[in-house]
Amino acid sequence: MHFPRNSESWNALQQHFEQTRNVHMRDQFNDNRARFEEFSIRFNDILFDYSKNRIDTETINLLIRLAKDAGVPEMIEKMFSGEKINHTENRSVLHVALRNRSKKPCYVDGINIIPDVEYELARVKKLARSIRAREWLGATDQPITDVVNIGIGGSHLGPLMVTEALRPYALHDLNVHFVANIDENHINDTLENLKPETTLFIISSKSFTTQDTMVNAETARQWFLSRLPDEKLLAKHFVAVTENQKAANQFGIEIDNIFKMWDWVGGRYSLWSAIGLSIVISIGPENFDQLLGGAYDADQHFRDSPFEHNIPVIMALLGIWYNNFYGAQTTAVLPYAQHMHRFPAYLQQADMESNGKFIDRAGNQIDYSTGPILFGEIGIPSQHAFYQLLHQGTKLVPVDILAPIFNFQGASKHHNALMSNVFAQTEALMKGKTEQEVLDELSIQGLSEAEIEKLLPHKVFPGNRPSNTFLFETLNPKTLGSLIALYEHKIFVQGIIWNINSFDQWGVELGKHLANKIMQDINNPEVVCGHDSSTDGLINYYKSRKV
Ligand code: F6P
Repeated sequence: MHFPRNSESWNALQQHFEQTRNVHMRDQFNDNRARFEEFSIRFNDILFDYSKNRIDTETINLLIRLAKDAGVPEMIEKMFSGEKINHTENRSVLHVALRNRSKKPCYVDGINIIPDVEYELARVKKLARSIRAREWLGATDQPITDVVNIGIGGSHLGPLMVTEALRPYALHDLNVHFVANIDENHINDTLENLKPETTLFIISSKSFTTQDTMVNAETARQWFLSRLPDEKLLAKHFVAVTENQKAANQFGIEIDNIFKMWDWVGGRYSLWSAIGLSIVISIGPENFDQLLGGAYDADQHFRDSPFEHNIPVIMALLGIWYNNFYGAQTTAVLPYAQHMHRFPAYLQQADMESNGKFIDRAGNQIDYSTGPILFGEIGIPSQHAFYQLLHQGTKLVPVDILAPIFNFQGASKHHNALMSNVFAQTEALMKGKTEQEVLDELSIQGLSEAEIEKLLPHKVFPGNRPSNTFLFETLNPKTLGSLIALYEHKIFVQGIIWNINSFDQWGVELGKHLANKIMQDINNPEVVCGHDSSTDGLINYYKSRKV
């Protein structure tokens, strides 16, 4: 077998796991008052506390050895220097170049891409400024009041997540909407209250071939032309962000209204490019610069910090520890910030599309677990939904908890209550509640022995459940940029250790391909019989109900 399973560092970790698996974090905290200092990292205004994990100093040393043996340091340099590490598509992986604040040259095929990046960013900012200043006028010389981003996956989730997270920074008389689903209810609900004269559509699609986006874009175009029937007016209401300028132009979008992407930016890593146009319109160019700056700082932290002080490396290694040694199948991301409500959904694509792979870089089938199932929700509502399983279920679910120290409006009664839950949850997950503690509690309540016996096992919490906590000053553009980039790099490090290519996504192709074929079956009046009996049966039933 191939790296990592046969490596010495992996075997050493396996042995260490056998020796330490029954150690309880409660005892580790009791034995070491400095545990928080030892296992936390500060970076800009972010505090990353990973002390509530099932680790000791030796665990971290062994995990770092694994990362080094896997070639993580070399691969970091390869990524930043533009080597084509996405080998199945023969592409560089340079989302970091999009936020390269130093403006140091970065080469792809011998060409410095930074001037092109700067040029496109300047165009994006110019358009955003004119819309925000009400200088970009629509068909009837009215300013734009509503912007609709039509896109899916990376052309949707990043812009949506950031726009929501930074709501307090948005212009409130300019509404930004997002349409992704091919289900017509999504676009119809969005267009319901909009006026074509004051609406700008951004067709965001790196490929400009994605069916969902193309169908929605066509519906938007028809909606517009049915109300303002003059194709020349489209120029004031439709712009595109794409690598496929020809297709966008054929769709009817003027060359001046097409913003460029490059093949060295993966869709799920593209919010820093012109795909972020809706973000720039919403929060303004200066705030977008802050977002890029925060990500740039995280890039420097990742590239330059020794692994023991490197947040994304530690995040990645902890994930591997649970995934590959404890057998955890999932991981949860739980922001205690209402505006971060799309953060877990965004990370689902970033993480699961990147590391949901079963073939290694050399083309061999893998016999170890790779990317986890990522899920999550905002903190407080999920406490009343699925935390029961986190505390007393039979599965180990490592969690990341993220919370701002100050709400945008400043400290308030709400915020202290919110934060008390953050601290309580991580404490409860770690400590649990022993039989003795439950017994004492029930005795004080005056319960009979029989009642105590009946209730006791149900009230015990095993604890020893891992969590990372991120505390940051406020949810501002710079910090958000840093947080996103830290997660991007965590995914990168895990991909290297698992020896997979985190930057392709062949796994989404099969369904797309079959859907195109099945569209023909649906349009064909004949009974369908070319699939398995279930698929044939479902298609035929659907068709019979439609007539
Ligand atoms: O889901 C597959 C995928 O290719 C994603 O990687 C991508 O973000 C999304 O589709 C949208 O692709 P495009 O921007 O080309 O429309």
